[in-house]
Amino acid sequence: MIARTLDGAALARQIREQLQPQVQAFTTQAGRPPGLALVLVGDDPASHVYVGSKKTQGTDVGFRVDLHQRPATTSLDEVLALVRGLNADPAIDGILVQSPLPAAMGSDAARRVFETIDPAKDVDGFTAENVGRLVQNREGLVACTPAGIIELLEQDGVTIAGKRAVVIGRSDIVGKPMSLLLLHRHATVTIAHSKTPDLPAVAREADILVAAIGRAGFVTPAFVKPGATVVDVGMNRVSEEADVVGFFGEGSKRHLAWQQRGSVLMGDVHPAVADVAGALTPVPGGVGPLTIAMLMKNTLTAASRRVR
Ligand code: GUN
Repeated sequence: MIARTLDGAALARQIREQLQPQVQAFTTQAGRPPGLALVLVGDDPASHVYVGSKKTQGTDVGFRVDLHQRPATTSLDEVLALVRGLNADPAIDGILVQSPLPAAMGSDAARRVFETIDPAKDVDGFTAENVGRLVQNREGLVACTPAGIIELLEQDGVTIAGKRAVVIGRSDIVGKPMSLLLLHRHATVTIAHSKTPDLPAVAREADILVAAIGRAGFVTPAFVKPGATVVDVGMNRVSEEADVVGFFGEGSKRHLAWQQRGSVLMGDVHPAVADVAGALTPVPGGVGPLTIAMLMKNTLTAASRRVR
């Protein structure tokens, strides 16, 4: 079997096209465009790439996007003050503080910054208020990556109700919200992680398998029930191309399309899974583009709720 590709990039384009007229209508009605503030602290190269894409795509859709870039030496108090200012700014509907924050800020810096964001402007869905609303299946703002995965499954016609879903990874950003979204759609959900005994056997029970571990090629065919839908959330930068090709062998080159300065972007799912799964998200071009599209959607949602 060669798995069907779940084309996240195409769906992301479609979502942006649908948003454009809605953003125009909002702008006409409110007398201003929806406003998104991006906060980028430090010089993590991947964060610069992601935030650059968020700014470009937001602007293309018709948002006002303000990028607040600060050096790695910025103090936590300065970032908190910036966020408080954005909370109070009536032209700003969405606030996103890109993580990771510089390590020098301390291990609980991200949590303290996220908790300072007004939940009504929390377009990442990271505040305790929005997480609590998700747990209770109430209206709120939902983390972009898992929300995008649900859109992708639904548009592909993947049945969620009554199915077995296994999410590998228990992060606040992906694993936990993903599990809740699947649960609310009536899947029987297992959250597996690095301490789960016999992980391949647990994963093999899944009709829908979500890999959000952060280890290149971790999910091999031994983890996959034939015909299962496999969602690869991994975005692993592997620095030595030779090692990667050696590890994954011939035939995996189509998974190595994204190369920059000798680094390669690889998912958590081994390319050989395409021979077992029924459907599979590619890396790149699967979950990644959807995350940004959902950020746009969340920003318009936040803007519309604030002016209604
Ligand atoms: N870093 C990696 N992914 C994300 C995300 O979805 N939101 C934020 N704020 N930072 C990230």
